[in-house]
Amino acid sequence: MTDTAPTSRLFTPYRLGPFGLANRLVMAPMTRNRATADGSATPLMAAYYAQRASAGLIIAEASTPNAVGQTYPNITAIHTDAHVAGWRQVTQAVDAAGGGPMFLQIQHGGRIGHPDNSGLTPLAPSPIPLPETIHTPSGRQSAVVPREMTLEDIRNTVGDFAAAARRAIDAGFAGVEVHSANGYLLHQFLAPNTNRRTDAYGGSVANRIRFVVEVVNAVSEAIGPERIGLRISPGITFNGIADADADILYPALVAAVADKGLAYLHIAFADPDQQLFPHIRANWPGTLIANPVLPLDQIPADGGRNAAERLRAAGADLIALGRPFLANPDLVERLRTGAPINPVRDNYVTFAGGRAGYTDYPTLQSIRQETAIGAQDNSFATADRRAGR
Ligand SMILES: Cc1cc2nc3c(=O)[nH]c(=O)nc-3n(C[C@H](O)[C@H](O)[C@H](O)COP(=O)(O)O)c2cc1C
Repeated sequence: MTDTAPTSRLFTPYRLGPFGLANRLVMAPMTRNRATADGSATPLMAAYYAQRASAGLIIAEASTPNAVGQTYPNITAIHTDAHVAGWRQVTQAVDAAGGGPMFLQIQHGGRIGHPDNSGLTPLAPSPIPLPETIHTPSGRQSAVVPREMTLEDIRNTVGDFAAAARRAIDAGFAGVEVHSANGYLLHQFLAPNTNRRTDAYGGSVANRIRFVVEVVNAVSEAIGPERIGLRISPGITFNGIADADADILYPALVAAVADKGLAYLHIAFADPDQQLFPHIRANWPGTLIANPVLPLDQIPADGGRNAAERLRAAGADLIALGRPFLANPDLVERLRTGAPINPVRDNYVTFAGGRAGYTDYPTLQSIRQETAIGAQDNSFATADRRAGR
């Protein structure tokens, strides 16, 4: 394969604080529901991540810091020794495959959870249920009314994030990403439609960002700020969230954490044409990871390359891609060389587990090998025909 795509800074090394990245492409966190029932990572998951080791940075999927934070069945967790052991086989496999640093995303589901998944009533800033159904082992069910968190629940949850971060480092991760996006617990504190509290954690913008800032501070104290990323998704409506005052809330949040020396800020569904993006870029002194908005039904034929270049031009340091990495284990090589991109198969969100749609996406190398074997088969057939056999 020859290099056909123009050279780009996307494929040049980058220094992320103490960590060296081979390129500026980041595998976005993606929940794939392949963990054991107790939330431990498996050898199949180690194989999946190792296949994607050429990403400059891998952010491993949302993992819950305590039992009540569990969202869906078979998601990963990071609050027991078994979870550490499970994840360690993943970080070791990526390392053995020549991979760069890995961060683990820590996610508390808040109201996105169900007693049939966690065995517990979900906790949230306010007792407002998700107006949608939630996947459970017996199919989709209406969301339950979550229990409003007490101040003690808040303190304990902040502590659970810090403990989970320590465990992630024990498991061989370079750092953790605090998940404050996509409508999960931290986002539920930020958004006025899910946070109706009247205490110090609700009401004003300063109050609604308090919980996220406390989590960031506690995790910083536990593992060091240079090992923490923060993911946000201003303005998205996923999981029933309505960020009514995103234009003032996110600048306030960014200002509150800007001087903490974090590894990065990560914007999910980043649109360079929206006013918030340049504002956040201008006010964030550190590394900015941006995850472009790609079509929902299918990834583009260029694997997101054009969208990535646009965000780079708008000031993003690193570009995170989700489904393009899901469907293309060797995405970096494909983007660099302009090679064809595997489309995402429609079974990518599955609760059935297994290899299908997970570790069986072909690489360029496996396609070349198959083609060579096919050509050999053909030449045998031709020789057979010539010989009249
Ligand atoms: C199967 C799947 C699972 C996802 N799980 C997570 C997750 O665990 N944490 C998270 O922050 N975002 C998650 N996302 C969102 C992705 O990180 C990303 O923001 C989204 O897919 C858009 O990027 P893309 O168009 O490149 O796929 C998930 C997306 C997909 C498709």
